[in-house]
Amino acid sequence: QNIICHEEIDSTNNEAKRLAREGAAEGTVVVAECQTGGKGRLERQFFSPKGKGIWFSVILRPKFLPQEAPKCTLMAAVAVARAMAEFGLEPGIKWPNDLLYENKKLVGILTEMSAEMDGINYIVIGTGINVNIEQSEFPEDIRDVATSLCMMKGEPLPRVKFFQAVLRAMDDLYAQVQAQGFAPVLQEWRKYSITLGQEVKVIGVRDGEIYFGKAADIDEDGALLVDTEEGRKKVLAGDVSIRP
Ligand code: BTN
Repeated sequence: QNIICHEEIDSTNNEAKRLAREGAAEGTVVVAECQTGGKGRLERQFFSPKGKGIWFSVILRPKFLPQEAPKCTLMAAVAVARAMAEFGLEPGIKWPNDLLYENKKLVGILTEMSAEMDGINYIVIGTGINVNIEQSEFPEDIRDVATSLCMMKGEPLPRVKFFQAVLRAMDDLYAQVQAQGFAPVLQEWRKYSITLGQEVKVIGVRDGEIYFGKAADIDEDGALLVDTEEGRKKVLAGDVSIRP
């Protein structure tokens, strides 16, 4: 497998997309010690300091339809959850794909895709894992909402070993998806979910519509099903916060 390492790069997602456009093979991984322009969802920046985390992107070229792509993001979240469990840490996934500890963010995932109606050209799954960042090292504006594996464990973690565990899990999960579809991955996602069963506030990404309800389940598309006073709503993408 091809793993390309950089000391510093703008964003491993951008680099992976450049490589994918040039024809890089499925399974190519781009990882960097630090990112100068780490990107999050919704045009946010992603804090990616040198040597303290795992900032990486994977190129996939799956045969399935573009609508299935969001489930690849859920798959990546499950991969990190499995690695955490191996290291004795209890993972919690907030729909769709943030990993949280004590309601603060440990891991973010950003999936980007190039696709036609009838097929996917490539998917880039970018994952940022806060490994050995102390609370005081986070920028002030995210200090109260971010955390790291070392804060969770109370001691630093071996970054390379953790990364190997994540890549192994991703490999296994992707093979499973190709053989059996997404159902087993979604089932495992449910096991790690901290969203299901909770009262949530949903802010729709497309229309900004806000509503409240109980997160009941995810469906076969990976969409969140929320029971509201007006009945069951299907949330494809958006910001969902758990109501205190
Ligand atoms: C989010 O939480 O909004 C998603 C964060 C995704 C961050 C990762 S770090 C590696 C890859 N490169 C990027 O620029 N972003 C993703």
